Amino acid sequence: EKGGWSSFMAKEISEEPEAVGNTILGRTHDGLVHLEELAPIGDAALKDVDRIVIIACGTAAYAGMLGKYAIEQWARIPVDVELSHEFRYRDPILSDRTLVISISQSGETMDTLMAVKYAMASGAHVLSVCNTQGATIPRESHAVVYTHAGPEVAVASTKAFVAQVTALYLIGLHLAAVRGTLDEAAHRSAVDELASVPAKISEVLEVSQAEIGQLARWMTETQSVLFLGRHVGFPVALEGALKLKELAYIHAEGFAAGELKHGPIALIEPGQVVFVIVPSPRDPSSLHPKVVSNIQEIRARGARVIAIAEKGDAAVLPFADEVIPIPLAGSLFEPLLAVVPLHIFGMELAAAKGLDVDQPRNLAKSVTVE
Ligand code: F6R
Repeated sequence: EKGGWSSFMAKEISEEPEAVGNTILGRTHDGLVHLEELAPIGDAALKDVDRIVIIACGTAAYAGMLGKYAIEQWARIPVDVELSHEFRYRDPILSDRTLVISISQSGETMDTLMAVKYAMASGAHVLSVCNTQGATIPRESHAVVYTHAGPEVAVASTKAFVAQVTALYLIGLHLAAVRGTLDEAAHRSAVDELASVPAKISEVLEVSQAEIGQLARWMTETQSVLFLGRHVGFPVALEGALKLKELAYIHAEGFAAGELKHGPIALIEPGQVVFVIVPSPRDPSSLHPKVVSNIQEIRARGARVIAIAEKGDAAVLPFADEVIPIPLAGSLFEPLLAVVPLHIFGMELAAAKGLDVDQPRNLAKSVTVE
């Protein structure tokens, strides 16, 4: 039931805080992550893993990309992210030291199911992240970590995405604990950060809803939108672009900001709308000034810049046409906040164009054919 919301998608975006919170619930003990669900694979095997391959499609694959950053940082295991439908067509190298992690909201996506079956047959350990109890993909896997986003009805995935990222972060912390790669203080602070995400998403929802609604109403004639992000901002850019394609039928592309000068900057002409996901100025890496200089470059060529930036980030103000503020968070956790305005934007622009937000043309909620 929509319960007073204009669409299932609007309702599901409003449930993003709970999707994260419920996915964490019961999975920490004394401030540390412990996933009992991983017992079927076992700590000995998890200690022995020398490579992780994440398989998924669409939005779930973008969640997987974020999982790569977190798992590599915390558990120091190399992670590849592959689209399920590409995975098994080139004789991938798998062994009993490979952990394959599938991600699927529905648990029925045929491309991902076939990839899971392939991985099982090849002798790898297979762990699935799934939002649907008892679905086919978890039944075909060694172990499953369920996301607790609740049923997702709108075709476009929103609350499942933030829940998938949360589950992958929990898996990263569990692996780090098993392998002794993260000191306890850092583990505790990551758990605290994750636990603070639901309230921060609620803040983003409150602050950005009206501004983005208005932005969308101005943009009903827009033909093309670009999204730029760097490091964990890159998958967020891809996710923002996918939502716009599928919901508002607008040509949209997400780029890694560093790639701009290697080609995409040629697309920038006066009036081109570009969303930029800006890393925190507090981040110890030097990415913030680099992304700000990307903004200057595209602004100088007439782009209309909409920056999603940490609140109080004064450096972007002179160069952005609009700034959508997000609360302070550690860099791995920023994507869980920055993605929210982009989910709202896709929905609002589709609604402003008079389109069916919950049932975009040509798409089905679960893709059960290859
Ligand atoms: C995008 C979207 C799709 C799904 C993809 C995988 O908004 O909904 O890209 O994310 O089809 O679906 P699941 O997660 O059910 O395997």
